[in-house]
Amino acid sequence: MAVFRVLFVCLGNICRSPMAEGVLRNEAAKAGATDTFEIESAGTGSWHIGNPPDPRAQAAALERGADISALRGRLVDEEDFERFDLIAAMDRANYAVLKRMAPKDQVHKLRLAMSFVDGARVDEVPDPYFGEGAGFEHVLDLLGDVAQGILAARREGRI
Ligand code: 4NP
Repeated sequence: MAVFRVLFVCLGNICRSPMAEGVLRNEAAKAGATDTFEIESAGTGSWHIGNPPDPRAQAAALERGADISALRGRLVDEEDFERFDLIAAMDRANYAVLKRMAPKDQVHKLRLAMSFVDGARVDEVPDPYFGEGAGFEHVLDLLGDVAQGILAARREGRI
């Protein structure tokens, strides 16, 4: 199967999107699909360019088997729309920024990450940055569902 390129996007690129990257990489490996996915993450805000993920995100992800310590924050750029097959935004604010940036012929690559979860009660992955540690666990629960949804969609040829 051809390689499918996924970019997760949040605001700071130090919490949600690096965790999403680590979780999907992990779940793809468990499904024997490592070679058919390329996964990255980026942010729409520039505060944390070059920084590793938030220590709370690193710890919570590692607890679930995803080592994201080597990732570094970067900004999303227009070239990403050419390079990736799917650009998955964590919330509507980031989706709106991406939609404004996207070349017209690439807008179809843009999705809310939660749109891959059938029957989800929320359509955004909440920002855990300013909250307590439990927020990271909740985010990881959602991102596990997102990863399963993306794997299933790919397997079934829906993306
Ligand atoms: P993220 O969380 O978008 O999930 O990486 C945030 C991280 C940092 C900031 C905001 C959100 N910040 O304002 O610095």
